[in-house]
Amino acid sequence: MKKKRIKKLPIFILLTIIILIAGFLNFNNTDNKNKSGKTKNSYSEKSILKMEELGIKDNVNLKKYSKTLDIAIFDEYFQSSYLKEYEQIEYVETENFIDLVNILLDRKYSAKDIGNIIKEYTKCPNFSKYNFERYLTYKEKNNNLDYQTVVTRVNIKLDKEFYTDTEPVKNPDSLYVVVNKYNYLDSSFVPKNLKPLFNNSNATMVQEAADAYQELVEAAKKDGITLVATTAYRSYSFQSYLYNSYKEKDGQQAADTYSARPGFSEHQTGLAADLNDPNYSARRLSPSDYEWLKNNCDKYGFIIRFPEGTDNITGYQEEDWHIRYLGKEEAKKVKDSGLTLDEYYDLYLKNK
Ligand code: DAL
Ligand code: ZN
Repeated sequence: MKKKRIKKLPIFILLTIIILIAGFLNFNNTDNKNKSGKTKNSYSEKSILKMEELGIKDNVNLKKYSKTLDIAIFDEYFQSSYLKEYEQIEYVETENFIDLVNILLDRKYSAKDIGNIIKEYTKCPNFSKYNFERYLTYKEKNNNLDYQTVVTRVNIKLDKEFYTDTEPVKNPDSLYVVVNKYNYLDSSFVPKNLKPLFNNSNATMVQEAADAYQELVEAAKKDGITLVATTAYRSYSFQSYLYNSYKEKDGQQAADTYSARPGFSEHQTGLAADLNDPNYSARRLSPSDYEWLKNNCDKYGFIIRFPEGTDNITGYQEEDWHIRYLGKEEAKKVKDSGLTLDEYYDLYLKNK
């Protein structure tokens, strides 16, 4: 009787039971013995073979899966001496992960901190693996700075002395060009389309900037503020004359805090101007002139290039009169960012 009943059981029920049992056994097997290699939390057969090939299998805790180690064993920079550290380091999905890990281990960073450090650096949009060691050194010296600030400052070379590792600018005709103590213009560079300024024909700027300057000055006039550019575009040779006369008068060290060396002046781009209020004699601009300028110049496409408190970045003392044309959109963004152009460029403009 019993036999007959069993025969009557539908075959698919039997099959389902068999599949379930097989699945259960396989699941246990995978988890405990790492044979199937299909779950995320265990080493695959391929990984185990690789460990054997590297002669490290017996030293690996196979029961405790480490994605960092699993990635490291296939990486060209794998170092068997760091096996125990790899096992402890939190994995971060990023290019050159093992290379970065090794650099940190070489510098004696603790395995438990390394994942987080790599995460913090690599989430910066302007992170460059080529500068990684310099970031670490700069951060070690300036531990109060956040990771993003460190990355940007090192990228713009602030870990090096001013006027060292200088290079010619690659985009001298771009509206976004940055000329500073690391990036210079060729002595022969003269901007295209220089145009005399409407209220001072002795001064010229690139046409687009000259037109924007007129808008700015006219808007200021409506608010009772008089502004005139005393100097705007300056040739390499004129900057040379200026810098050398300051140097003779005040010495090089002092001159460097307020005057650019020839080739290193933004004035040579034709996008900068120094403003003066002819109704105010004490300085170039009165405090209310500057207040107006600071609040409004972005509406006409200008930024204050050397604001107060940025001398450690720009290399110059405050110049509340020096404006730089950048176009309305980017000028507003620079203002809102609170960054200097040097920093903003590295983050948002260098690839434009
Ligand atoms: N005074 C500014 C920094 C220049 O000489 O370009
Ligand atoms: Zn200036």
